[in-house]
Amino acid sequence: MSIYLSKNEQARFLGRHILSIADFTPEDIHIVFKLAGYFEDYVKNRIQMDLMKGLILATLFFEPSTRTRLSFETGMLRLGGSVINATGTSSSLEKGESFQDMGKVVSRFADVMVLRHPLESSIHQFAEGSSVPVINAGNGSNEHPTQALLDLYSIWHGRVQTKNLKIGFVGDLKFGRAAHSITKLLGLYKTHFYFISHPTLRMPPEITKQVKAQGCKVTETENLADTIKDLDVLYVTRVQKERFTDLSTYEAVKSCYRIDPQMMKKANLSLSLLHPLPRLDEIAVEVDKDPRARYFEQVTNGVAIRMALLALVSGRLAEPAGEKTIGF
Ligand code: CP
Repeated sequence: MSIYLSKNEQARFLGRHILSIADFTPEDIHIVFKLAGYFEDYVKNRIQMDLMKGLILATLFFEPSTRTRLSFETGMLRLGGSVINATGTSSSLEKGESFQDMGKVVSRFADVMVLRHPLESSIHQFAEGSSVPVINAGNGSNEHPTQALLDLYSIWHGRVQTKNLKIGFVGDLKFGRAAHSITKLLGLYKTHFYFISHPTLRMPPEITKQVKAQGCKVTETENLADTIKDLDVLYVTRVQKERFTDLSTYEAVKSCYRIDPQMMKKANLSLSLLHPLPRLDEIAVEVDKDPRARYFEQVTNGVAIRMALLALVSGRLAEPAGEKTIGF
């Protein structure tokens, strides 16, 4: 299979910022997933390509990250490109530089940039200043679009069911940006959502309203034990301690739900158990050996998805003159 795209397909992504999952159409998702499927072999077999030779990725992380940052960096290195980075106090944001100026400056060094910052508006201001594509790696509790893409890819991977999916979200649905983004993405596919949380950590009403308007069903409950048997997918989230202003409130809700082998006995044999990670105590370590636990598989899929996005926005997949595009 050729990995080149037609002019139309390439034009959908060339130079594009990836800021919100709301910007993705089913056609976009199809292209990203086809490419990720192609790159999966390179990830699993640890093979380097030269597709992005000569290009530089800047990763700018102002909140902790293991998976997102390292999977973008791994993806860029596997594609044959190079990586530069700034984290925490190592940038002039600390001196009061604006996000727009940082975008203007770093885009003079790098060909594509990835930003994570706790302020929701940061990514939009940064992209406004940038002259190269910018990818959102998490803006506060708002969105995490590349996580949503790898989550959906993982849900579909090797499964036939794409419509009328029954998915439960449990844990911190108020602050969990990963849960927000994958919910918005699944809103495109007539999903039945089960939002399972403590009353103070419910899914934001604007997201619930949006997916209902898209024709999805929503069931809100506090009862995981009675709901788990109905689910095709259970998406577990960590209670986001860093978003609470009052630690006693966090302490009161942090351990409301725990997935252990007893809870897994109540679930469907074909359940997919997902988690964006990092996990604390919300999934017992003993569950890791259950074949329904797929959260480490999500990590591998994340590299392939991010390789696809880097290659797409940088324009390195344009069909060379004289070559015939096959595949997509
Ligand atoms: N899932 C996720 O965003 O993990 P990191 O915080 O480690 O990047």
